Amino acid sequence: MTSQVIQDGYGRPMRSLRLSVTDRCNLRCQYCMPEEQYLWLPKSSILSFEEIARFAGIARGLGVEKVRITGGEPTLRHDLPVLVRMMSEQLAGVDLALTTNAVLLARYAQDLMDAGLDRITFSLDTLQEHRFRQFARRSKLADVKNGFDAARRVGFKGSKMNAVMVRGFNDDELVDLLEFATSQGVELRYIEYMDVGGATEWSMDKVVSRHDILEKLSARYGVIDPVGGDHPSAPAERFRLTDGRTFGIVASTTAPFCKTCDRGRLTADGQFYLCLYADQGLDVREPLRNGASDEEIASLLAARWRGRMDRGAEERTAMHSRGALYQLEGLRADPHREMHTRGG
Ligand code: GTP
Ligand code: 5AD
Ligand code: SF4
Repeated sequence: MTSQVIQDGYGRPMRSLRLSVTDRCNLRCQYCMPEEQYLWLPKSSILSFEEIARFAGIARGLGVEKVRITGGEPTLRHDLPVLVRMMSEQLAGVDLALTTNAVLLARYAQDLMDAGLDRITFSLDTLQEHRFRQFARRSKLADVKNGFDAARRVGFKGSKMNAVMVRGFNDDELVDLLEFATSQGVELRYIEYMDVGGATEWSMDKVVSRHDILEKLSARYGVIDPVGGDHPSAPAERFRLTDGRTFGIVASTTAPFCKTCDRGRLTADGQFYLCLYADQGLDVREPLRNGASDEEIASLLAARWRGRMDRGAEERTAMHSRGALYQLEGLRADPHREMHTRGG
């Protein structure tokens, strides 16, 4: 299939694809899965590896250059390295990354490396065992640290660590998280708490803003200079300390970056979403399973992308009074609204 670059209604290309391979997770982080019970996607609806890899190949033909495997927690998907191998073989030249909470990573790091995974992004928000247990409702910090060690040992380079900052929970760990990331050889990105999907406990006063983060860090480290991002559409703005260390801030809540958003996302059951805040996706499972050709599916995706006008985070920022996007009933009505289904 020939490669073409498509653009949406604001001239944004589709360069990045996030593939959620399972909606399940082995943690229950408060900003993502605060509820006691969840509705899971039915097993029969979950795409096979062949279907996921085929979809990724079609998206590649429309200009995608970066693919991120995410979840829920992607390492819960059986035989994940098999999917990684299929993708690394079929999508030569694509930057292939994995977002993981690292609880199970020690077990899979070598196989993922051998399968051709390029990069890992860790999610870790606290270095205190009691807080981890309270916040993620599982006692797994030691496993997570083993996951970091394993990734380094098998030779992953260019890894990053995402820490969602929540006031009253971990805002006193800004410095500790940065020191930990440095010790692990990964670049830290502080993430502003977002009012997305399952974040039913969200309120503006719990958001630790980019401004707050920079203020607290400069009190400890002195002058902080902005540096260019990896890529103009990367959500993180990067900064440098006087000792040369760099870190990022993803300010999706107070300074959204919708203007340069180049991300499409596929849920584990084959719904194609364009915005984290979008209410409707496009069903691609049906065409994938019912004999549509690659060209036909590419036309569906291209039409969807070309008609795209969303800028969800910017619209949220413009609101006068802002609360959680959904409450429980809204999430129960459609589990695709959940961040752990849509892919964080
Ligand atoms: P790389 O550049 O490949 O390392 O990844 P990235 O910079 O795209 O970052 P990553 O995928 O780790 O995303 C970081 C965080 O940004 C996510 O965990 C979300 O909190 C947030 N994020 C990711 N995608 C979007 C998006 O489309 N919109 C908004 N508002 N936030 C996003
Ligand atoms: N706010 C910000 N980031 C979130 N994530 C999930 N829920 C939220 C939220 N409410 C992101 C985090 C985490 C990744 C898996 O999803 O960055 O690391
Ligand atoms: Fe936490 Fe990620 Fe699991 Fe959500 S999907 S509960 S953010 S580890």
